[in-house]
Amino acid sequence: IVQQFDKTSASLQGYESFMMKEIRESWGAVRDTLTGLLKENELLNKTIKAIERAKRVIIVAAGTSYNAGLLFTIRLQRAGFNAISVIASEHNNLRTNQDDTVLVISQSGETMDSLIALKKYKNNGSFIISLTNTLGNSISSYSDIALHTRAGPEIGVAATKTFTSQVGALMLLSSLLLNESVDYLKEAESVIANSFSKVIGYTKIIGSELSKKPSLYYLGKGLGVPLAMEGALKIKEIAYVHAEAYPAGESKHGPIALVENGFPVIFLNNGEFTDELYNNVMEMESRHAKTYVISAGSKISTNNNQNEIVLDVPDPRLSPLALAPPIQLIAYYAAKERGANPDRPRNLAKTVTVR
Ligand code: G6P
Repeated sequence: IVQQFDKTSASLQGYESFMMKEIRESWGAVRDTLTGLLKENELLNKTIKAIERAKRVIIVAAGTSYNAGLLFTIRLQRAGFNAISVIASEHNNLRTNQDDTVLVISQSGETMDSLIALKKYKNNGSFIISLTNTLGNSISSYSDIALHTRAGPEIGVAATKTFTSQVGALMLLSSLLLNESVDYLKEAESVIANSFSKVIGYTKIIGSELSKKPSLYYLGKGLGVPLAMEGALKIKEIAYVHAEAYPAGESKHGPIALVENGFPVIFLNNGEFTDELYNNVMEMESRHAKTYVISAGSKISTNNNQNEIVLDVPDPRLSPLALAPPIQLIAYYAAKERGANPDRPRNLAKTVTVR
């Protein structure tokens, strides 16, 4: 049973902002999400079957939920599935049919672009699975299978614990689809909590440095790319610092032209492609970029780069979860340094119910 939310009772409980409170709740949220989903054996089995029998798996979402979905798409593509990520507002670019299974991911379950995409794909005869964080929302009510994260209410406009919970849920689904043991996910809670403790000081320094910069890049490779996209989105959303995310290798093909003395470049290393990323760090440093490296599992640098922090992960598949706290905290501290309220960013709404 997913808990019912009573937003009126949401209080800061001593925290200075909901965003910090919710980042601190993220490891508990992932634990509850995984425990809850694993109890829904029948629903999970149906989900797996619907994805396995599909000719194509279409993952549809907006904003942060899109970035979480992209991790799932990459995992499925690597395993040979015909998986495609679609930005909800661009759903018209794809025609689906009864052979497709569509996964709609939405924290609120009410995002208009995602709901419209869902309805269109459902009308085409596609099978619809949703992953939302609230009960009785519009998206889950139109779905053939409604799965839920169990992050509890999220008050901060910028998604934090709901993102981490989506990532946890999608890692579980992808492992089940790939016939992997899901035992490694028992460590998810401690990996996120340990990452938070390890990076809190470092991210405060980075956040403060970045708050004074007009622009930055977030670079990653493989599963690091969706995390880089989420890092860039977060710092834009709440600290109003212009940020772009790129696959690290692609940064040579244009973006590097902007790099000059002191231009900040944050590398997210999920431990898979350390040699390639090392070369990319060197390329940026030779243009006098100010580089920061956040590594999960294995280090990039051969020397002791003071700007690299290495997070422990007992299993490489937990790297995306380890990288969630630092990208959220960097944005948080950059916002605080700029005097911006991280809970109420300008021009943004928690739930966008217009097209
Ligand atoms: C809004 C929020 C974003 C969020 C997006 C998708 O734009 O400001 O933080 O990621 O909607 O929301 P959803 O509820 O569908 O996940």
